[in-house]
Amino acid sequence: MICSRAPAKVILFGEHFVVKGKPAIATAVDLYAETCIEESEDYIVESKQLGLKFSIFGTSIPPSLLQFRKAAELVMNLAGSTRGFHAVVDSEIPVAAGMGSSASTIVSFIHALLSFYGFKPELSLVNKMAFEAEKIVHGKPSGIDNTVATYGGTLYYKKGQIERLDVKWPRSLSIVVVDTGVKRSTKSIVREVLDLYEAHPSIMSKLYDVAEELVNEARRRLVEGDFTSLGQLININQGLLSAIGVSSREIEEIVYRLRSLGAIGSKLSGAGRGGVVYGVFTDLNKDLLKKVFRNYTVYLVKPINEGVHHRIL
Ligand code: PMV
Repeated sequence: MICSRAPAKVILFGEHFVVKGKPAIATAVDLYAETCIEESEDYIVESKQLGLKFSIFGTSIPPSLLQFRKAAELVMNLAGSTRGFHAVVDSEIPVAAGMGSSASTIVSFIHALLSFYGFKPELSLVNKMAFEAEKIVHGKPSGIDNTVATYGGTLYYKKGQIERLDVKWPRSLSIVVVDTGVKRSTKSIVREVLDLYEAHPSIMSKLYDVAEELVNEARRRLVEGDFTSLGQLININQGLLSAIGVSSREIEEIVYRLRSLGAIGSKLSGAGRGGVVYGVFTDLNKDLLKKVFRNYTVYLVKPINEGVHHRIL
């Protein structure tokens, strides 16, 4: 049996603006999706998290598994093989919440499947195939989700170009991720933002330019380790996301609760309208955090450098 794991991501800056070619910064964090593959007569994908088990070349495959069919076609065409497999996919990443669950899952699947067919899973190949499969779910993905799940680390991303940032995350720094519990579709929110852009191009293009400047400034501050300025930039970024219509009452509630608990910055992460909000703390009172967010799912995450990799059994 072959098992591969890929990390989740938190978009620190620049989501949505990245879809139109502006830069974004995201970091891989220590929550994982994992795929384990063994030989079979059929082509089975079993998702533990979604409670689904299907033959992916069958006629009744649910839409949430279509990206697996696409990924399997890409790998099997490359291998020139029809060897059957049973893939079990499991994940601790919340679904449809802005932490890249679908990208991490598909990246782990492709990495494991390439190995199953005898390839050494080159990261650039895994990333390219995952991007193709992600198009099935997202329509017009920027590629940032699959890139972070593949390579890990804290990445500055622009139009498919990646730069690994040398960030010395202080030990005392905590990233708290709070799930609003509101599930949403990235594809439709991205579409709505693009429609808003078309309706008001001269206003929106200025917001996009500000977002670009903000991300470039954030890159400098991250590398310098100026986390106070970084917090201010996180808050400004939240304001821009609100301006383009992707915040919500639930999100703002969490954003302000995190700030009142002492977060140096807090904003939504991912497509918005629901999903997750993150806050950065230099001095976190965990007991108070637990109390304030007792009705929410909260993750205390750590940025990590490693991307997709085999899990040694
Ligand atoms: O919510 P997520 O994890 O799917 O993140 C989407 C990020 C967007 O910038 C909104 C879309 C994209 O493809 O970059």
